[in-house]
Amino acid sequence: MSLLEVDGLRTGYGALPVLQGISFSVEEGETAVIFGLNGAGKTTTVNCLAGLLPTWGGEVRFDGKKISGKDAPGVVKAGISLSPEGRRVWPGLSVLKNLELGAWSRKDRKNIDETVQQVYSYFPRLDERKDQLAGTLSGGEQQMLAIGRAIMSKPRMLMIDEASLGLSPKLAQTVFQVVSKINDDGTTVIIVEQNVGVLPYADQALIMEKGTLTFDGRGEELEKSGELKRTYLGDTEEP
Ligand SMILES: Nc1ncnc2c1ncn2[C@@H]1O[C@H](COP(=O)(O)OP(=O)(O)OP(=O)(O)O)[C@@H](O)[C@H]1O
Ligand SMILES: [Mg+2]
Repeated sequence: MSLLEVDGLRTGYGALPVLQGISFSVEEGETAVIFGLNGAGKTTTVNCLAGLLPTWGGEVRFDGKKISGKDAPGVVKAGISLSPEGRRVWPGLSVLKNLELGAWSRKDRKNIDETVQQVYSYFPRLDERKDQLAGTLSGGEQQMLAIGRAIMSKPRMLMIDEASLGLSPKLAQTVFQVVSKINDDGTTVIIVEQNVGVLPYADQALIMEKGTLTFDGRGEELEKSGELKRTYLGDTEEP
């Protein structure tokens, strides 16, 4: 059994359908990357999995249990957390307070500081700036905080929407390396990403186009296939 099973998922906004019935699975302990052009439906997918959008049809199972239909707090309690597109840290609160609030769903309150220290070990910059207001962090630091806050709930599966958007190539690589460490430490990961530099970290790769999946395979298969080039450059010619 896969950790995450998405079966014919449909959703949209108002009367507008976006996801046309997508199906895919993610294995426990792996990193899956979702690629696709702007407007393909990547954010809609992870937001729907996170319980932020209603499910119109299909079913999502996590660890064998149905989670579609749960609201966002219910999904967090089931073990999934999201670092959302646009980061959305609480600007008027300190770095530390943002992290502590990320742990709202936990019952083991006394162990929260341990996870804060773990976040600081992933992102030492956040330790240096723990008392700074989140709204005054640089874009890259806010991204670290958004990811750090998402792991404060100790999720079994972490979803990151646009991990590297707006980051320098160097910082993007740093973020990918930290996410890879988080994955090695036992958390299953889904990353939405347009930066192909993430590919070496992808066990599984998916491509979305117009609310459907047009590729679902191993990362190295995608690397060889030329599909990314076709998607992003509209080029099917071999070099
Ligand atoms: N709140 C909304 N109301 C109406 N339509 C929306 C809303 N959010 C997204 N859409 C539409 O849903 C479609 C998919 O959008 P989505 O944000 O999932 O794409 P994406 O793949 O994440 O794109 P990007 O790479 O630009 O972030 C787009 O056509 C978009 O206009
Ligand atoms: Mg998006």
